[in-house]
Amino acid sequence: MKIGVLGSGIVGKVLATGFLKHGHEVMVGTRTPDKLKEWTGQNPRGRTGSSDAAAQFADLVALAVNGNASADTLRAAGGANLAGKIVIDATNPIADAPPVNGVLRFFTDINESLMERLQREFAEVKFVKAFNSVGNMFMVNPQFKGGKPTMFICGNDEAARKTVTGILDQFGWETSDMGKAEAARAIEPLCMLWCIPGLLRN
Ligand SMILES: NC(=O)c1ccc[n+]([C@@H]2O[C@H](COP(=O)([O-])OP(=O)(O)OC[C@H]3O[C@@H](n4cnc5c(N)ncnc54)[C@H](OP(=O)(O)O)[C@@H]3O)[C@@H](O)[C@H]2O)c1
Repeated sequence: MKIGVLGSGIVGKVLATGFLKHGHEVMVGTRTPDKLKEWTGQNPRGRTGSSDAAAQFADLVALAVNGNASADTLRAAGGANLAGKIVIDATNPIADAPPVNGVLRFFTDINESLMERLQREFAEVKFVKAFNSVGNMFMVNPQFKGGKPTMFICGNDEAARKTVTGILDQFGWETSDMGKAEAARAIEPLCMLWCIPGLLRN
């Protein structure tokens, strides 16, 4: 597939590298392509461009930007470029405020997820929450003693969830499909949970 990755941070780079590894074509969208010089040096098959160019290029988009910037990034990508496409949403709604005793603060509350907000604004996009609940070092073909790990996903479009399950198969994950977008209210806070040991005990 042609994959547009929106985001030049560690998650954008890890996912983009993973998609290339599995034979997909990739364009990473960013406001500042210069930030990706080292990545393109290491991944000569990878392309970079604006968010708008990456969304136009893509059959499927992966959203990997700061949660606060997610709606702006999708606006820059262009609703018309994204309409009808799957957007894998790896973002978390982490607030700018510092954690409390190792617990991250969110700018959403428990009865509304970030993905539902995005789904409401971009009604023609098929959002699927995935990858947000694991650290970037585990996103692509992780090896655990206990065997294949499980990725929780959700989103309103069943066929889109199936497509993302196929991608997660390639990326070495077993998928647990939690159904419609509201399930993101439970999947997004898994980020709070897995970050606690790191924030408390490094
Ligand atoms: N780090 C992890 O291990 C991990 C794991 C799971 C999920 N996540 C989630 O994945 C997302 C990306 O995380 P990250 O650690 O890679 O990096 P990040 O620092 O959260 O995000 C970097 C990206 O956010 C964009 N961005 C930041 N401020 C912006 C603004 N004001 N307007 C537009 N874009 C802005 C940047 O865009 P430009 O490229 O245009 O500069 C860059 O692409 C986050 O939502 C995070 O919660 C992270």
